[in-house]
Amino acid sequence: SRASDFVVVANRLPVDRVVGEDGEPSWRRSPGGLVSAIAPLMRRRHGTWIGWAGAPDERLEPFEEDGMSLVPVHQSAEDVELYYEGFSNATLWPLYHDVVAPPVYDRAMWDAYVRVNERFAEVAADVAAKGAMVWVQDYQLQLVPAMLRRLRPDLRIGFFLHIPFPPLELFWQLPWRRQILEGLLGADLVGFQLPGAAQNFVRLCRRLLDARTFKQDVFWDGRTVRARAFPISVDAEELQKLTEDPGVRRRAAEIREDFGDARLLLGVDRLDYTKGITQRLEAFGELFRDGELRPGEAVFIQIATPSRERVEQYQLLRDQIEQQVGHINGEHGELGTPVIHYLHTSYDRAELAALYLAADVMVVTPLRDGMNLVAKEYVACREDLGGALVLSEFAGAAAELKRAYQVNPYDIDGLKKSLLDALRDHPAEQGRRMRAMRRRVLEHDVDRWARDFLASLEEPSPPAAMGR
Ligand code: UDP
Ligand code: G6P
Repeated sequence: SRASDFVVVANRLPVDRVVGEDGEPSWRRSPGGLVSAIAPLMRRRHGTWIGWAGAPDERLEPFEEDGMSLVPVHQSAEDVELYYEGFSNATLWPLYHDVVAPPVYDRAMWDAYVRVNERFAEVAADVAAKGAMVWVQDYQLQLVPAMLRRLRPDLRIGFFLHIPFPPLELFWQLPWRRQILEGLLGADLVGFQLPGAAQNFVRLCRRLLDARTFKQDVFWDGRTVRARAFPISVDAEELQKLTEDPGVRRRAAEIREDFGDARLLLGVDRLDYTKGITQRLEAFGELFRDGELRPGEAVFIQIATPSRERVEQYQLLRDQIEQQVGHINGEHGELGTPVIHYLHTSYDRAELAALYLAADVMVVTPLRDGMNLVAKEYVACREDLGGALVLSEFAGAAAELKRAYQVNPYDIDGLKKSLLDALRDHPAEQGRRMRAMRRRVLEHDVDRWARDFLASLEEPSPPAAMGR
């Protein structure tokens, strides 16, 4: 394949190959915030994207799409089970999200993680031009930076972690904690969502590896590795275009009409136990029980995109949510007027933009979240300064969106109060809050995030001798 000067390596490609019940394969957009953020910049920069096409056992040739070169990496059914569903999503995902679910520590899963990371590193080494910039993404590929450096010391290697990086006290549990840190230290620049995460990382390097550090720099293996925060963001231009589209506006009006005079509350999440979906539904249900809300007066639309459906914790959560929705509608709904509309499906960008425009209150209540792009997308879409955002303190976005109705999602009474405030505050107050949040999101969009990261990656590293 052609050598490329700018390469992104991520577990997933931006498109996902799905095989229908009739056995016919087709492509659709991959789920999640990583793809939402990286796809627009790769389109603009015409880079090469190395990743998995989302189907086990498929061997696919590299292809062009949307101005990007896509290079599929093969994963066997066993790799998918042990590396993807296993170590990535049953071990690292819960560990890095404050152990809100218990992590699984399994040696066969770890072996698969090493094996698959090695494969990604080999493909990247093969595709990258001399001196190219290679940007490795997220928790599934933390060993790739060091593996790739061994194969190709000429490359400039960046890494970005899209999810939180845990405090020392939690990371310490991981039986393979040393290997993970050493893997990351293969990069020249390790990016995190928040400054606290970068600090956690540097502190761990010091305590666990006995590495010399200076501020946010780690001296390792004769090199300087910089740890920095780069809060990720949304494609403001794309969202702006969508909200100006007459079809999207018509659709938003249609959604509003469907619900008559009811106020609309909206949740949009992958069906994931980190998202705090049960907490928000519990709070909403209690508002009817307490007589604060009556059916027909407010309705909750919860979109829960299918995610990691073969992982046990995700199956348990789905059952729990579906039971809860049934219970709340059974208790508080009326004929033709359920109080919650639960949709276990995924929507395209246009339909989401219409929903954002239609929603009076956007409810984002994760128990822990690296950033949460949904919160920023809602803000970016509300040029009319309408709507209100209820936002968990435990989402990375809370550091920037100070004027949201911020909540502790574990505090159900606090959550109820915030929902009511968001529903009842004066529109002028809502407008002031929205204006302040929009200023932040539009100035710090995903282009700026990518520019900042890549400019920092291009800077020559300070000499390693400095801190010694
Ligand atoms: N999303 C989507 N269709 C859906 C639900 C979500 O395109 O039906 C997108 C959403 O617009 C956002 C991303 O998926 O860009 C979710 O990113 P976020 O950071 O909020 O959470 P993650 O899924 O990465 O944990
Ligand atoms: C989060 C992760 C991404 C992941 C996405 C979807 O955004 O940070 O790395 O791609 O969720 O999850 P999935 O397991 O379907 O790739």
